[in-house]
Amino acid sequence: MPAFSSPAPTGVQPTNFRFRCIACGDLSDSASQDFRCAHCGDLLEITYPQWKEAKPNAETLKAAWSQRRLSQSPLDVSGVWRFRDLLPSPGTAPHDALQVITLREGNTPLYELPQCARSAGVSRLLAKHQGMNPTGSFKDCGMTVAATFARRAGFRWVACASTGNTSASMAAYAARGGMSSLVLVPEGKISWSKLSQALDYGAVTCQLRIDFDGCLRLLQELVRRAPVYQLNSINPFRLEGQKTLALELLEQLDWNPPDHIIVPGGNLGNSSAIGKALLEMRELGLISRFPKLSVIQAEGANALVRTLRETGGKRLVSVQAETRATAIRIGNPASWKKAAHVLEATRGACEQVSEVEIAQAKAEIGAEGIGCEPASAVTLAGLKKLVKQKFVKPDESVVLVLTGNLLKDPDFTIGFHRGELFKGSADENASAVLDPLRRAPIVLDATLDAVIRTLEQAERS
Ligand code: F0G
Repeated sequence: MPAFSSPAPTGVQPTNFRFRCIACGDLSDSASQDFRCAHCGDLLEITYPQWKEAKPNAETLKAAWSQRRLSQSPLDVSGVWRFRDLLPSPGTAPHDALQVITLREGNTPLYELPQCARSAGVSRLLAKHQGMNPTGSFKDCGMTVAATFARRAGFRWVACASTGNTSASMAAYAARGGMSSLVLVPEGKISWSKLSQALDYGAVTCQLRIDFDGCLRLLQELVRRAPVYQLNSINPFRLEGQKTLALELLEQLDWNPPDHIIVPGGNLGNSSAIGKALLEMRELGLISRFPKLSVIQAEGANALVRTLRETGGKRLVSVQAETRATAIRIGNPASWKKAAHVLEATRGACEQVSEVEIAQAKAEIGAEGIGCEPASAVTLAGLKKLVKQKFVKPDESVVLVLTGNLLKDPDFTIGFHRGELFKGSADENASAVLDPLRRAPIVLDATLDAVIRTLEQAERS
């Protein structure tokens, strides 16, 4: 392939980690381009064998992480690399700062949601807002690690299939790291905001006439043929970075685990990463009990819900995905086994929510001055269901993981407030629930009288 004159993809010699197959347990020092086990073809995860002989001390870790907050070094300012003791090391010197591609990701806020708590029926509700990351989604926490390893392995090109956020994040980190990026997205099924990010950060962006699952299939074939490093969440380095969401959350809670963590489920990388972090934190004595980790999907993209209900988590039930929450419009989730495992380990639940429930929950989160994209709002919609089912008790503490920023999908938000979102669909009659939350823009003649009349009307209503 003469067009690609990049150095041979040699892979990185692991320093403090190894790859382990999630099915057969095979351990290896290197991974193939598709990040699948050479023996059985299942997914790989990263493991830290030296923890067996020399387990990091929980109190020493907490003190080091806290101390690093005072430092201005790029590694310490990053909310991901601050937790580098539990991450793979990319350098010859442990966690060599020069090797790392960082946009100062992580460090995301934890907000109280008192009105949403009331509407869901719980006394305390918090939101960990990953939409406050540099490119506006949780993907940045994984991308800083995986992009760093891509460059370390000598790749000139990185690539991903995406419903939008991964491509925005990958394009940004590739640009920062001096690499080129190739994006495969389903045509017409990702928001303009996300597409515009990929373009601005300089990615070669292909809109394919197929869904996300088709884009991912194509990417997996591509990486076997071309020296292109894949940055989807099949890449286990991504999940290591995304683990830090849970570390940072627990640190913000002074290491007192909440009763529940609720996360949206699409390709199921993020739930797997959070679950892996909880398992490791327990192993290292950073926490003494598990929060229950629950995954919420859109009804039209409910592969994990069906997999757990219909096969007990033994076999994937793929679906033809359809939802307005385009970030999670995924029918064949790659990390379903990892997610099923962590749900079982933490005794979490898996639920699905309707399009109307998503729209309502999104508006309620917005009305608290926080805002998120539709895929993130499934968490609040799901919480309401889990409270009704008595899986979540009114006095339990709950953290919702808001995965993407409100500004990621303005078409959805404007369509909702103008009353156009469900026009012509079976959900059109949901106005009794949704109308009180709508704030349509008001077009007026440019007179003071007209503005004052509008103000008075708003005050009366
Ligand atoms: N929320 C948002 C905002 C997302 O962008 C995604 C996934 C998810 C939730 C689901 O996370 O896949 O780890 O279960 N977006 C991917 C993308 C697929 O290409 O941007 P998951």
